[in-house]
Parts: sequence; C-alpha cells; structure tokens
Amino acid sequence: MIRIGIIGTGGMARVHAEAFANIAGCELVAACDLNAARVESFAKAHNIPHTFETIEDLIASGYVDAVSIVTPDPFHKKLALQALEAGLHVLCEKPLALNALDAKEMTDAALKAKRINMVNLSYRNAHSLQKARELIAAGRIGNIRHIEASYLQSWLVSPKWGNWKTEDTWLWRLSSAHGSKGVLGDVGVHILDFVRFPVGEFASVNCTLMTFDKADNNQIGDYHLDANDSALITARMQNGAMASIHASRWATGNLNDLRLVVHGDKGAVKVSLKLDQDWNQLEVCLDEDVIDGVWKTIECQSTPNIYQRFVNSILSGKQEQPDFNAGLQVQRVLDACEQSDRLGQAVRL
Ligand SMILES: NC(=O)c1ccc[n+]([C@@H]2O[C@H](COP(=O)([O-])OP(=O)(O)OC[C@H]3O[C@@H](n4cnc5c(N)ncnc54)[C@H](O)[C@@H]3O)[C@@H](O)[C@H]2O)c1
Repeated sequence: MIRIGIIGTGGMARVHAEAFANIAGCELVAACDLNAARVESFAKAHNIPHTFETIEDLIASGYVDAVSIVTPDPFHKKLALQALEAGLHVLCEKPLALNALDAKEMTDAALKAKRINMVNLSYRNAHSLQKARELIAAGRIGNIRHIEASYLQSWLVSPKWGNWKTEDTWLWRLSSAHGSKGVLGDVGVHILDFVRFPVGEFASVNCTLMTFDKADNNQIGDYHLDANDSALITARMQNGAMASIHASRWATGNLNDLRLVVHGDKGAVKVSLKLDQDWNQLEVCLDEDVIDGVWKTIECQSTPNIYQRFVNSILSGKQEQPDFNAGLQVQRVLDACEQSDRLGQAVRL
C-alpha cells in the first residue's frame, strides 16, 4: 500500500482525494494545510486519519511515502524540494513552478532523489487527446499546417464557481504579489501542453497579455488585481506548423471549455472538452472525407488518469508521464510568452 498525503486542502484537493480513494494500491493517510480548520474539515469529509499544519510535521511523522502538492503556485517549489529531500514521491499541481529556472531546480532534485515525480497536467486525462496524439504520430493527418487551440473560462463574469470578489481561492489567482502568473500560468499552462503533447515542441511564440479593469483601483483587500486575465498567442511549431492559442477568464458563455483543432495536409482532428461531458469523443476528418470536409465522431478507449499513473509509477518503479521535465518544458514556453508580451515581439525557444 502506498501511503499518500495531500498538502493544501482547498478547492482542487477534493479532486485529488476522490481520485486516490478510487485507486487500488494506495491509501490517503494524511492531509496538511496551514489553515487548521480547513485541514480538519477536509480530513473529516474524506476519512483521512492524520492531519498536519506544516510539511515539516508531516514529514517527521513518517506516515507517508508520497505527497500530492495542491497549494497555490508559489509554494510548489519549496514543498516539492522538501518532500524529495525526505525521500517522498511527489505529484505536484500545475504550473510546476513560477519560472523555468525553478522548474529546472525541481526537475534536477527529482532526478537526484530518484523518486517518482509528476505534474498534474490534468487535461492529458482526456481520452480524446490521447487518441488525437496517436493518430498524429501514425501520420493519419499528414504534415501539420495549422493548430487552433483555446481554453475559455468565464469565472470573472459568472458566479457558477463562487464569488471571486470575496473568496481567497479566486483572489490569489488575480494577484501577482500572491504568486499568480494570471490566466497564462493558471490555464494557459494546460492549453500550451494540450498543443505540445500531440503536436510537438514550440519554435517561437508571440504573446499579448491583457489585464482588464475589474474593481475600484483594481484592489480588493490585500489583493492588487494585476495578474493577466486574457492571453492571445500566435506560435510557430518546430515542425513548421502555425498555431493560434487563446486563454481567457472573460469568455462569457464558456464555463470551462478546451478546444484543439489540428489541420494536416491529409486530414484533421478536433478535441472539445466541457466539464460535464465525457472526454472520450474525438472528431476526425480523414481519408476521403477530406474531399467534402465531412467530420465524424469516434469513441476513444479510456486511458488511466494521472493519479492512477502516479500510483502505478510508484508501484512499478517506472516513471510515467507527465513528469517534472514535462512541467519544465511547458514552463519554458510560459516564460517565453511573458517575455514576448514584455518585448512586444516574437521570442524563439
Ligand atoms: N490540474 C488542474 O486542473 C487544477 C485545477 C485547479 C487548481 N489547480 C492547481 O492546484 C493548486 C491549488 O489550487 P486551489 O484552487 O485548490 O487553491 P486554494 O486556494 O483553493 O487552496 C490552496 C490551499 O493551500 C493551502 N496552503 C497554502 N500554502 C500552504 C503550505 N505552505 N502548506 C500547506 N498548505 C498550504 C491554503 O491554506 C489553501 O487551503 C494551484 O497550484 C492550482 O493551479 C489545478
């Protein structure tokens, strides 16, 4: 039995707890959060026997073999380095770090510690994305010419996920002083990986970031609302393809929608993900359907999710993907996007 501890018991931790509860070969034995009341109620809700307020106490207890780090982004690096140093396997939330330099330090530390390391690029759990990658690798769509990708959210407009004006879980995402890299770091990381994973590496990016006015003086309490909330990216891929990529929190009408269309010279694939729908349908335009532009839907086989792959990796000793190095590679693209926005020009990777 792999004994797992969750560090950070806010919004996303529930997803981790529910996922691990359904995986054979592991048990959730500890939860840790700086906020004592939150960690207690989380542990109670998920039947977790041990609670801690610091990672130091969690490590000293000797109760866990592995940790899932689900804190806000600025704490990922320190906590991951401490866990690796203590000989624990680590699943870390995305983005892996705040910049590529930190992500590299984490990747090197994981290699040195020889522990399983994974980053929760969770949209790789979509069976349709895995199938798209397989078709592209098999040459079914030929040479790739165009990619169109978007990650559209509307939580600055819709109260569906809660009130961003009063809840910490949203406010830290709007403030760079609280370690947020804005929509680019929050969900831009997912959509860039969504492109990279099936298509390959980026050659250059040209990015414009925008922070729209949203409160008096753009300040709520301690939170200065300066982090970007929309990103528009055009990119060239190393295989010569052109990409247009959009991420936004102001996409009214789209609660949490991802889309990827890849056009090759022999065919095309289209992945569309919405929260409440199955992620096993892929649209394809292949072979003779290219003549009339006919799209067909194929059902994709299910693949293990990242939580399952993390446990499999620990049990087998074989590192599965996405590992810290995958987190580092996408972090390099994020850094290049920020630099491009600052310079007002394209940046090569
Ligand atoms: N993979 C995904 O699809 C996905 C989705 C949502 C969030 N996330 C990521 O998950 C992470 C957490 O997001 P969230 O929405 O759950 O945040 P949140 O603000 O709701 O919760 C974070 C929790 O971490 C605790 N915390 C902060 N520093 C800590 C420390 N040093 N030690 C222990 N606990 C600490 C806070 O007290 C809080 O309870 C972020 O990195 C976010 O990007 C990923």
